[in-house]
Amino acid sequence: MFPCAHLFRCFHHFLFLSLSDVDECSDRSDEDLLCDHYCHNYIGGYYCSCRYGYLLHTDNHTCRVECSDSVFRERSGVLSSVDFPAPYPKSSDCSYGIEVEPGFKLRLQFDPSFDIEDHPDARCPYDYIKITGGSTEFGPFCGDKSPGVIETESNVITVVFHSDNSGENLGWRMTYTVIGSQCPVPEIPSNALINPIQSDYSFKDYIVFTCKPGYKLLKDAQYLDHFQVDCGSDGSWSSRPPQCHTVDCGSPKVVDMADVVFGNHDNSTLFGSNFTYICREGTFDPSNRNTSYTCGQNGEWTNSEAGIKLPNCLLACGHPSRTLPAQVKRIVGGRSAEPGLFPWHVLLSVEDQSRVPEDRWFGSGVLLSESWVLTAAHVLRSQRRDASVVPVAPEHVKVYFGLHDTRDKHQAVSRSVDEVILHPDFQPNNYNNDIALLRLSERVEFNNVTRPVCLPSPDNKPDHSSPPPNSLGVVAGWGISNLNASSSSLTSNPTLMADPGVTSDLLQYVKLPVVSQDECRASYASRSITYNITDNMFCAGFFEGGRDTCLGDSGGAFVMENQVIRRWVVFGLVSWGGPEECGSQRVYGVYTRVAKYVEWIQEHV
Ligand SMILES: *[C@@H]1O[C@H](CO)[C@@H](O)[C@H](O)[C@H]1NC(C)=O
Ligand SMILES: *[C@@H]1O[C@H](CO)[C@@H](O)[C@H](O)[C@H]1NC(C)=O
Ligand SMILES: *[C@@H]1O[C@H](CO)[C@@H](O)[C@H](O)[C@H]1NC(C)=O
Ligand SMILES: *[C@@H]1O[C@H](CO)[C@@H](O)[C@H](O)[C@H]1NC(C)=O
Ligand SMILES: *[C@@H]1O[C@H](CO)[C@@H](O)[C@H](O)[C@H]1NC(C)=O
Ligand SMILES: *[C@@H]1O[C@H](CO)[C@@H](O)[C@H](O)[C@H]1NC(C)=O
Ligand SMILES: *[C@@H]1O[C@H](CO)[C@@H](O)[C@H](O)[C@H]1NC(C)=O
Repeated sequence: MFPCAHLFRCFHHFLFLSLSDVDECSDRSDEDLLCDHYCHNYIGGYYCSCRYGYLLHTDNHTCRVECSDSVFRERSGVLSSVDFPAPYPKSSDCSYGIEVEPGFKLRLQFDPSFDIEDHPDARCPYDYIKITGGSTEFGPFCGDKSPGVIETESNVITVVFHSDNSGENLGWRMTYTVIGSQCPVPEIPSNALINPIQSDYSFKDYIVFTCKPGYKLLKDAQYLDHFQVDCGSDGSWSSRPPQCHTVDCGSPKVVDMADVVFGNHDNSTLFGSNFTYICREGTFDPSNRNTSYTCGQNGEWTNSEAGIKLPNCLLACGHPSRTLPAQVKRIVGGRSAEPGLFPWHVLLSVEDQSRVPEDRWFGSGVLLSESWVLTAAHVLRSQRRDASVVPVAPEHVKVYFGLHDTRDKHQAVSRSVDEVILHPDFQPNNYNNDIALLRLSERVEFNNVTRPVCLPSPDNKPDHSSPPPNSLGVVAGWGISNLNASSSSLTSNPTLMADPGVTSDLLQYVKLPVVSQDECRASYASRSITYNITDNMFCAGFFEGGRDTCLGDSGGAFVMENQVIRRWVVFGLVSWGGPEECGSQRVYGVYTRVAKYVEWIQEHV
C-alpha cells in the first residue's frame, strides 16, 4: 500500500545503526509493522518470525502460507482464505483444486462477507481470487462485494488466491456443490410404478420400476421383479423403461376326467379371471370342495382353500344312473334292462382272422376305467383246436359302450383295442383263471350310460370267500333269454353267442344267488365228465333250475351292490356252465372269482 515505506524504513534503520542499538521491534512510530507476526531484536539488528503454520517470506518480513496442494473431491465442500474471517496471510499464492466425477458441474457460492484488498483504479492489482474451469476464467475478484454464485459448467476447477505483502483484509469463503447432468423425466409405462418420484433427475439419480399388482415386468423378453435405470453423466438414461404386462396364468392344467369352465365368456387366463374344474360324469372330487381357481398376481391359478393344488376327479365306480327295482322276489327268467342300469356293461365283438373261414363272435365285458375293460379270457382267446393259449389280435376286437339294444350297435360309442392281456395261467381245458383285460386305444367318455364298475376288495383269506354263499347278485347280458345259446360244452364252442341277433336284442338281466362251493362241486361231480371247480371260480343259480338262470354272455359281470357304500361291485365274470341245457335242475353257472385277481388287475390298470 505504501511502496516507499520500505525505503524509508531501511534508511531509518541505517541512520541509527552506528549511534546506538535501537529496539527496532518496539519502534511503532512507523505505521507499517516491521514484522508481520513476531519481531526479534538483537544488537545491531532484528529479525522476523512467523506463527506456527506460516513461513517467512523471502522478503524476511511477511508471513506466508503454503496452500497449494489441496484437492477437494467430495461433491460439496467449503473453501476459505486462511484464518477467515481473520485477515488472510500475506505474500501467499494459494491454489485449490476441486475435482468431481464427469457429469457433474461445480457451482460456487461465495459468502456475502467478502474482503480482498483492491484498488480504486486498477483491477485487483494486489490481492485477488481467480477461478479457472476448463477454458473459462472467472475473476479476478477483489474488493468487498461478494461474487455471489458462479455456475462453472465444469467438473474440474482451480481456485487461485494471491495476496501481496501488505494489507489486512478479512478474506473470503465459498461453498461449492455439484449439479448433475439432467436426464429427461421418463414417461411412466402404463401399470408401472416408479421410485423415487422426483420432479427432475440428474446424473447419479436412478429410478426403480415395478409393476402394479397383477402385472409382470417385462424387459428384454425377461420377466423381472424390478428394473433400475440410471441417469448417466451425459444426461441420458441407462436403458429404456420396461413394460408391465398383465399377468397371464396360462391355460389351466389338465386334470384327468375334469372339464374346465371359464368364469368369463372370452376364456381369459389373465390376472383376475377364473375358471372351475368340473369332474366329468361318473367321477367326483373326494375333497368335495369348491374347485374355482382365480388367476392371482403371482401368475398362478389359485383356489381359495387349496391354493395351487389341483382337484382330483376319481372314478365314481358302481353308480348306475338308474336304480334297479328293489324287487327281491325270486326272479325266474330274465328281464329287460332299462338303459343306464348297467352302464359298465359293454359288448365285445371279436373277429379272429387268423382262422379260415373267418370266425366272428360276441362277448360281454365290464368297464373298469376310461381305458380298461375286464372280461373272461376265453372270450379273447384265439379259437384253436390245440391247447395253446394265444390272444386274438387287438385289432380284431371292438368294444361298444352304453349299448342297450344291439340293433343300435352302429350308432353306439365304440372303441378299438390296443392291448389284449389274457391271464398268464388261463387253462383252456378247465377254464381256471378265466380272466382278461383289454386296453382301449382311446379313452371312453363317461356319461349316464357309460360308467365303470367297482372292483371288490382282494380275496386273500381262504376261509372267507367273496361273494358269500346265498347272497344275491345280478347278471346282465344279451344271451340270457336264449336258452339255446347259453347251453354249450366246455370243449367245443364255449359259452359264446354266435350272434346276438338270434338272442335278445335288448339287454336282459337276472338275479341269482351264489351257491356254496361244496354244493357246486357236488353238482358237477355227479356228471359223467369230471369238472374241476377251482377256488378261482364260484357258482350261482337256483337248485331247481329255471329258464335263463344260469348264464349270461361270456365275460359279462356278476355284480352285487355293496350295501354300505351303495356301489355295484363286480364279483364274477360269466365263465362256463354244464353241458346240459341251461335251466336244468342243479345246473349252476360258473363264474370267475374276480376277488382273486384284484392285485393282478391293479398291476395292469
Ligand atoms: C533476508 O535475510 C537473509 C539472511 O538472513 C539475506 O541473505 C537476504 O538477503 C535477506 N533478504 C532480503 C530481501 O532482505
Ligand atoms: C369369475 O369371473 C366372472 C367374470 O369376471 C365373475 O362374474 C365371477 O364372480 C367370478 N367368480 C369367482 C368365483 O371369482
Ligand atoms: C372357451 O373354452 C371352451 C372350452 O373350455 C370352448 O368350448 C369355447 O369355445 C371357448 N370360448 C372362447 C370364446 O374361446
Ligand atoms: C366357489 O367359491 C367362490 C368364492 O370363493 C364362489 O363365488 C363360487 O360360487 C363357488 N363356486 C362353487 C361351485 O361353489
Ligand atoms: C342320459 O342323459 C341324456 C341327456 O343328457 C338323456 O336324454 C337320457 O335320457 C339319459 N339317460 C338315462 C338312462 O338317464
Ligand atoms: C332252441 O333250440 C331248439 C332246437 O335246437 C329250438 O327248437 C328252439 O326254438 C330254440 N329256442 C329258442 C328260444 O331259440
Ligand atoms: C383242478 O385244477 C387245479 C388247478 O389247475 C389243479 O391243481 C387240480 O389238480 C385240479 N383237480 C382235478 C381233480 O383235476
